[in-house]
Amino acid sequence: MGKNIKSAVYPGTFDPLTNGHVSLVLRGLDIFDEIIVAVALHSPKNPLFSLEERVEMASSAFNGRPGVKVEPFEGLLVDYVRTQRAGAILRGMRAVADFEYEFQMALMNRRLDRNIQTVFLMTDYKWLYISSTIIKDVAKLGGDIKGLVPPEVEKKLYQKYGHL
Ligand code: PNS
Repeated sequence: MGKNIKSAVYPGTFDPLTNGHVSLVLRGLDIFDEIIVAVALHSPKNPLFSLEERVEMASSAFNGRPGVKVEPFEGLLVDYVRTQRAGAILRGMRAVADFEYEFQMALMNRRLDRNIQTVFLMTDYKWLYISSTIIKDVAKLGGDIKGLVPPEVEKKLYQKYGHL
């Protein structure tokens, strides 16, 4: 048997955090004692929200919930995971479309540090069709995103797109 990993880093761009992300963190707490939601400065995506805004939205969604910590990070994910003394990276997988991207990242991270494991949870069916990107698209055009993102994220999105 391997060692008991208590803490996992859940990294992402979180531009913005969705209810799919929230659900994954809460399910992650069934496995790990602590989940560190790590908001990336360096992401291949071109974020709509600043790093500060993304961290603020994620922090207010979890509102000091025990076992959940929200932090920004910059540089390589594996370096950040080491500084946090976490043993695992937690990621959600929605469908076949996610697989290739996730597989590539997991293998690269494993090459960079063989002591850090990537753990995948299948996204709950309720959130299978949502992504930060599709939610931004709908919000931009004034569509209804209620129930898909935390209330403070909904407000921020409509503000950003001038609908509030
Ligand atoms: O959920 P996302 O937005 O696709 O997350 C991508 C993220 C932030 C996890 C990835 O881009 C990342 O780890 N960025 C930090 C820099 C890094 O380590 N890149 C190499 C990863 S293989």
